[in-house]
Amino acid sequence: MSKDFLGIKDLDKNAIMTIIELAKQKKQEIFNNSFRKKILKDKTLVTLFYENSTRTKISFSVAGQYTGMNVSDLDVATSSVQKGESLIDTAVTLDQMGINYIILRHQQTGAPHLISKYVKASVINAGDGSNEHPTQALLDFFTIYEKKSSFKGLNVTIIGDINNSRVARSNVIGLKKLGANVTFSGPTTLLSKGMEVLGAKVSYDLKDAIRNADVIMGLRVQLERQSGMFPSLREYANIYGISSDLFTLAQKEAILMHPAPVNRGVELTSELVDSSASVINDQVTNGVAVRMAILELLQFGGF
Ligand code: CP
Repeated sequence: MSKDFLGIKDLDKNAIMTIIELAKQKKQEIFNNSFRKKILKDKTLVTLFYENSTRTKISFSVAGQYTGMNVSDLDVATSSVQKGESLIDTAVTLDQMGINYIILRHQQTGAPHLISKYVKASVINAGDGSNEHPTQALLDFFTIYEKKSSFKGLNVTIIGDINNSRVARSNVIGLKKLGANVTFSGPTTLLSKGMEVLGAKVSYDLKDAIRNADVIMGLRVQLERQSGMFPSLREYANIYGISSDLFTLAQKEAILMHPAPVNRGVELTSELVDSSASVINDQVTNGVAVRMAILELLQFGGF
């Protein structure tokens, strides 16, 4: 049993299902203040984000507060990181204050794994470079399970900037363990054939990839991680943007997912984002529930 949660790689199918089942309970607590169990009262959580975030950072803060914790955010932009303090020294400094959880997002692959060796606190990976975003994948699994009841034989198509996507990596690793079929689709410059090694089928034909899918997951075009990979956003939207018309090729009850933030009109049309097939807002709520479950399980040795 690890003190940390660093990647979907480290979870087996049973551990994933344990988190989903506990998240189901936690979801009931979210909108019922009196029902929230302050199970982590007197514990302390710090968010340490070297990259921008709305959903992950705030949902960890909220999950910490809902479970009774003291929560602080270390604002990297105004911290001693700007004076040149290293990641390890920053983490050790927090650890010396008796922090119980460090939630780290960092642009460098392996950053959470590195600091976990230096601190007593539980380290949770909130996204490391293009490696993993494990809590995002878990909220995605919970959302799929809520809507589809099972993963076995489910066709999940993930579309867009796959090479740069830690969300795609964590999702394919977990979805394969859960018994789903995963297809990656996107332009050749954003989707290397070698990504098949992760267990997904690679298709450069968008219509083919969408046809018969039960779950369509669009990914944000990560302009901050690459340049010159396609001529223009308009061109990307014309060729790989998902519209309501394209979506009709999927299964009748297919759902639309996206980790967000969405570049409306680029990877998804606005009409599709706001359609009844979209579960993007459910993903946000489920993110709080999943993070509450992970915080609790790490404290009480659940996975
Ligand atoms: N999905 C996700 O990680 O969103 P944020 O960057 O807003 O945390």
